[in-house]
Amino acid sequence: MDRLLVTGGSGLLGSNVAYLASTRFDTLFTYNAHQVNIRNCTGVKMDLGDRERVGAVVREFSPHIIIHTAAILGKQCDENLGLAQTTNVDGTGYIAVSAKEVGAKLIHISTDWIFDGKKELNTEDDEPNYLNEYGRTKVKGEEAVQASGASYCIIRTSLYGWNLRVGKLSYQERVLDSLKKNEEFYAPDDQFYNPILVNILAEALFEIYAKDITGILNVASSEVCSRYQFCRTMAEVFGLNSDLVRPVGFSPAYFGIPAPKHQSLDVSKAKGLLETKLPVIREGLSEMKRLRDTGYVTRLRREDKEALHG
Ligand SMILES: NC(=O)c1ccc[n+]([C@@H]2O[C@H](COP(=O)([O-])OP(=O)(O)OC[C@H]3O[C@@H](n4cnc5c(N)ncnc54)[C@H](OP(=O)(O)O)[C@@H]3O)[C@@H](O)[C@H]2O)c1
Repeated sequence: MDRLLVTGGSGLLGSNVAYLASTRFDTLFTYNAHQVNIRNCTGVKMDLGDRERVGAVVREFSPHIIIHTAAILGKQCDENLGLAQTTNVDGTGYIAVSAKEVGAKLIHISTDWIFDGKKELNTEDDEPNYLNEYGRTKVKGEEAVQASGASYCIIRTSLYGWNLRVGKLSYQERVLDSLKKNEEFYAPDDQFYNPILVNILAEALFEIYAKDITGILNVASSEVCSRYQFCRTMAEVFGLNSDLVRPVGFSPAYFGIPAPKHQSLDVSKAKGLLETKLPVIREGLSEMKRLRDTGYVTRLRREDKEALHG
């Protein structure tokens, strides 16, 4: 079995990747502030800002593949400039240099927020032009990966899914939460993106490793929609009242920082390379519902202390 190191195992993407990988890889995941338990995986604490610790974890496990999901996201970066730099830029550099040292393939998770949102659909060849500190540090993180000499694939994506940690809600889980409580949810009808379910993204990442795809690759849904359309479709798929989803004009106030108006990623290249089907929005959301209905979320959280005692 190949050894896989997943950073950010306590996060939305990392926990699902580690859980799904655990039957196919010898899987070690890292967490930082939030200790979690994941089926058939070993978890270790690792602060990306601690160069020695990052090097030691990678050398000791000597993975064949590293999926680097850990990061500080969104507004938190503007609120903690130093932390965003040490985590998203320096820490990513430590991971990349360590990957090179042990000969691991590095799959680095980047974002659609590295663009300024002027172009409707960004390809892998478009030059990043960020609007905020999150975008800046993710661009610098990509550059650190590219400069490291490691074999890498940088994944630019937008994502949603079920969190392992019970009290931690993704944007989409917050939509469901509000609608279930019969509360209105406001979403921009003039801001566009193509997020993908983390479970489908994880399958794409495993395929990228198996096929040794390198370079930069956009992996997202194959359909673009506004946040408003996304939330309405979500309500419909989950059998909730879609009239509670209200349109609102796009403005920086929505995210607390300047954000790109068009966040969509052109996935033509990925479609040509991958057998993993990149779904349209309704398909992805239907799969998210199916996962809940068939007990996936319960199983994902089964071994986690927070879920057991929370
Ligand atoms: N969520 C989205 O909408 C989205 C969209 C596009 C791209 N992405 C990218 O996808 C990746 C995963 O996002 P996500 O939504 O899964 O994030 P998340 O749920 O916020 O999880 C972030 C993870 O990073 C870890 N982390 C934070 N600071 C750290 C540090 N100093 N040292 C080590 N680990 C640290 C956290 O660990 P603790 O909680 O244990 O501290 C957590 O496991 C990120 O690289 C992000 O840029 C996300």
